Amino acid sequence: MQIIGADQRESEKTPSPSAGIVTELRKWRKSQDSDKVIGLVPTMGALHEGHLSLIRQARRECDVVALTIFVNPTQFAPGEDLDSYPRTLDTDLQLAQKEGVDLVWLGNSRDLYPTGFATRVEVPALSDRLCGKSRPHHFGGVCLIVLKLFQLFQPTKAFFGEKDLQQVTIIERMVADLHVETEIVRCPLVREDDGLALSSRNVRLTPEDRQRALSLSKALFAIEASWRGGERKVQTLVEGAFEALDPGMELEYLELVDRNDLSPIEGEEATGDVAVCVAARAGDVRLIDNITLEFLS
Ligand code: PAJ
Repeated sequence: MQIIGADQRESEKTPSPSAGIVTELRKWRKSQDSDKVIGLVPTMGALHEGHLSLIRQARRECDVVALTIFVNPTQFAPGEDLDSYPRTLDTDLQLAQKEGVDLVWLGNSRDLYPTGFATRVEVPALSDRLCGKSRPHHFGGVCLIVLKLFQLFQPTKAFFGEKDLQQVTIIERMVADLHVETEIVRCPLVREDDGLALSSRNVRLTPEDRQRALSLSKALFAIEASWRGGERKVQTLVEGAFEALDPGMELEYLELVDRNDLSPIEGEEATGDVAVCVAARAGDVRLIDNITLEFLS
């Protein structure tokens, strides 16, 4: 396994070496045979089974698998958890090696956002809803880094999890609108055995908050159960979810949306491809989750 770059925090403290991570990556990319299927798995590290499921899918579908690890500051607002975001580089590298990753590329702001950096990439129509309401700059930062990665790696396919349903929807739109050749592959959301959606942030939950956080998936499963039972009234479905939600959770939103464009379901009855999206805080940890109801009708 080849590694380009070094520990992000260390790199950001020191001046850029003559061949920085961008130059080295370009060299790597040029050395790849043109007929190879190149798969890219972008992450912020602190790898868990959710990330590994993306790597495994990439391994199945591609000749070459590249993993990126970079805690991207432009997608965090001041006061968000950039500084406390979990970082477990040594374990991440071991896991990547075990999963047969060919290249790990470690990003750093010094090389990716040098002095004078001024460009923005936005998909406002899809970014202003759900998580975008409380994190107005978040998806702009995500689009920026993902488009940069696509420019640098020119991957045949890139793998994203449906855990971040709004993120993958926005990236698909950006790729279509900007004629990016990369195929976006959606990978299913992976949960713990007890239902909690896997997230790098879960390690920051206290045992009590983890217990409370479990009620997020319980709320979604409650909606799924009543949907399976034939219930279609939006209000009834949502009320059932509220009952399952632990009162100690600070709810940001719980919404039924059209799964294709994440627009809110209008009207009293839910029809079509429906997703239920939720965001809430357990202590100071912000968590998101979602479930799809489309195939159950
Ligand atoms: P990160 O949160 O590290 O997630 C990296 C990828 O793993 C994303 O595509 C995310 O959807 C996927 N993932 C995380 N938890 C998952 C789970 N439980 N099941 C399935 N997939 C899961 O998302 C980001 O990083 C960043 O925004 C990034 C795209 C790397 C841009 O900085």
